[in-house]
Amino acid sequence: MTNRKTAAIVLAAGKGSRMESAQPKVMHEIAGRPLIQLLMATLDDMNLERLAVVIGGDMEEVAEAVAPRRTVIQAQRLGTGHAVMAAREVMEGFDGDVLILYGDTPLISSRTLRRMMDALHAPLHVDGSVPAVVVLGFRPADPGVYGRLIMGTGDSLKAIVEAGDATPGQLAVDLCNSGVMAVDGAVLFGLLGSIENNNAKGEFYLTDIVSMARSDSLTCAVVEGPAWELIGINSRAELAEAEAIVQGWLRARVMAGGATLIDPASVFLCHDTRIGRDVVIGPNVFFGPGVVVGNGVVIHPYCHIEGARIAAGASVGPFARLRPGTTLAEDARVGNFVEVKNASLESGAKANHLSYIGDARIGAGANIGAGTITCNYDGTEKHHTDIGAGAFIGSNTALVAPVKIGDGAVIGAGSTIDKDVPDHALALTRAERKEIKGWAKRRRAKPKGKSK
Ligand code: UD1
Ligand code: MG
Repeated sequence: MTNRKTAAIVLAAGKGSRMESAQPKVMHEIAGRPLIQLLMATLDDMNLERLAVVIGGDMEEVAEAVAPRRTVIQAQRLGTGHAVMAAREVMEGFDGDVLILYGDTPLISSRTLRRMMDALHAPLHVDGSVPAVVVLGFRPADPGVYGRLIMGTGDSLKAIVEAGDATPGQLAVDLCNSGVMAVDGAVLFGLLGSIENNNAKGEFYLTDIVSMARSDSLTCAVVEGPAWELIGINSRAELAEAEAIVQGWLRARVMAGGATLIDPASVFLCHDTRIGRDVVIGPNVFFGPGVVVGNGVVIHPYCHIEGARIAAGASVGPFARLRPGTTLAEDARVGNFVEVKNASLESGAKANHLSYIGDARIGAGANIGAGTITCNYDGTEKHHTDIGAGAFIGSNTALVAPVKIGDGAVIGAGSTIDKDVPDHALALTRAERKEIKGWAKRRRAKPKGKSK
C-alpha cells in the first residue's frame, strides 16, 4: 500500500437517458439506497484527502444525497473528460494521486481501488517504467457498448476505444474499460486539457487520456477487476442485474451471521438490515430500510417489514406487514394479515390474526383478538391507543383513539370502545340480541313470492 495522498472525482452529471426516468440515474436505488450513496460508502473506506462529486445543474437531489461531501456542477454535459475538468478547482494544489470513478458503476470494492493505487507506482515488468495512468479493466460476459482496452507491448495500455468508434477487430477485444482510473495528480489536468471531441458522440472522452499520456511518453497500465463489481448501470435491466448482485452479498452476510434463509433468492434485504443469530426467515420476505432483528426470531413467509425493531424470540407472519415505528419486544407475536405501524408490542403480547395496530402501545402479555382495529385516524389527526399489560381484546373490536384500556381489562368481542376502560374491568358494547322461536321454519314453509 502506498503512502501517497489520494483524492477522488466521481462523475455523476450524465443524464442517464437510457433509464427513461425523471430522476437522475445515480438516484435510482439498490438495496434501498441511491446508487451514488453505495459508492460514497465505499469511498469512505479509502482515507481520501479530497473528494468532488460532479453533478449537473439540475441535480439538487444528488447534492443532498452525498452531502456534506463536496459537489461541483458541470454546466454542460460535454463528456466524461469535460466532467473531470469541472472538478479542477477542488483539486487545486493537490499533489497526490486522483481516483476517477463513475457514479453509475457503484459496486466497486475498496480492495479493487487499493490494487489500482498500488499499481500506479509499481514499475512495469517490460521496461521498468512507472505508470502515470492506471485503468481498471474487466471482462464482462457481454462486452457490448463498453470501451475496449487496446494493449501495447508488454503489459502497457495503448488506447481506450469507445465501442461506437471501434473497428470490428477492436470490438472483438473482450478486455473492457470499467471507467475507473487512477491518475498521477501532477499530470491529470494537463493531459485532459489537450483532449478533443472528434469522435462518434462529439464528446470530450476521459478515455482519450491514455493516448494523450502516451504522446507525452507517459506509461499507462491496466489492473483487471472482477466483472461483478464493475457493471455499469445505464438501463433498468442493468439496475436489476446490480440489485441481484448486491442482494447476493447481503444474503451471504446474514447467513454468515447465523440466520437461516429457507429460500435465499426470495428474501430481499436492505443495505442496513441487521439480523441476529438463529433467526429463521421463510420464503418471500421483503425488508425495507431500518430493520433490526434480534436472535432467535422467526419470520414466516410473505412478510413486508420496514423501520421495525424485532426483539429476541419474537415471531412474525406469515403475511404480516410491519411498518415504520414498529417495535416488537421479546417473544411478541404478530400473525397473519396483521399490519402494525408506529406501535410497540411489549414482551409476550400477541396480535395473531387480521388486525390493524397503528399508533399504539400493547402492554406485556396482552392478547389482541382477530379483527381488532385501532381506529387511529379521525380524518384529520392521528390518535394513540394504549392497551395495558395482560389486557384481553375480544375479536372484532374497534378501539376508537384516543383511548386507554387498563391493565388486565377484558373487552367483549364485537365492541366499539371510544372511552377509557379501567384496570381489570370488563367492557363491551353490543346491540341486545333478539330471538324469535320457530321464525326460520315458518318462513321456509310460506308459498314462494310472498316475502312475509
Ligand atoms: C463510459 C466509458 C466507457 C466505459 C463505460 C463503463 C467514456 C467516454 N466511456 O461509457 O469506455 O466502458 O463508461 O461503464 O468515458 N458523465 C458526466 N458528464 C458527462 C458525461 C458523463 O458526469 O458529460 C458521467 C455519467 O453520469 C456517468 C459516467 O460519467 O456516471 C459515465 O458516463 P456514461 O454516459 O454512462 O458513459 P458510458 O457510455 O457508460
Ligand atoms: Mg455508463
